[in-house]
Amino acid sequence: MDGLWFALEHSAFGGHVRNSTFLYPAANVIHVLAVLSFFGLVATMDLRLLRVIDGTPAREVIARLRPLALIAFLAIAATGFILFTAEATAISGNIAFQVKVMAIVLALLNVALNSWAMKQRGEATARLTAGVSLGSWLFIAAMGRTIAYV
Ligand code: HEM
Repeated sequence: MDGLWFALEHSAFGGHVRNSTFLYPAANVIHVLAVLSFFGLVATMDLRLLRVIDGTPAREVIARLRPLALIAFLAIAATGFILFTAEATAISGNIAFQVKVMAIVLALLNVALNSWAMKQRGEATARLTAGVSLGSWLFIAAMGRTIAYV
């Protein structure tokens, strides 16, 4: 994989991200804004499932908000890729980044588990995945911020 990250970092696109005065900061700002939007949507769905918020049934809240959360996640992934490209070799070896990527995979599996539980087991089981979701996305954000310091 190291060869791939080296090639990506030294590609024309990687050089452009590093040398542009606008692209890297813009990707960083959009990454953070998309993370904020994503977490707001996720927290609303999870807190409704956990019955901290009353009102519209959890199933309906999820049906309305999950497509928006997906759009925010795609923006996070696209801008994250741009940030990664600038220093792919260093970041791929960064322990906080590695933990973050593994935690993202687990958090996405938890989303799949949540959908399965809502369909097959009902809200009581799905409630467990809501707690895991809140904790894991906060942990992932913390790991994102830690990349710069380790
Ligand atoms: C989906 C794939 C993702 C990729 C490829 C990615 C990649 C990155 C990279 C390369 C950085 C810059 C690290 C640095 O040099 O300082 C970063 C920062 C960050 N990421 Fe991600 N990220 C992704 C998803 C996420 C998610 C899902 C979250 C939160 C739930 C998140 C939260 C953050 C935060 C808070 C920062 C620090 C921003 C700052 O302090 O300026 N990232 N990410």
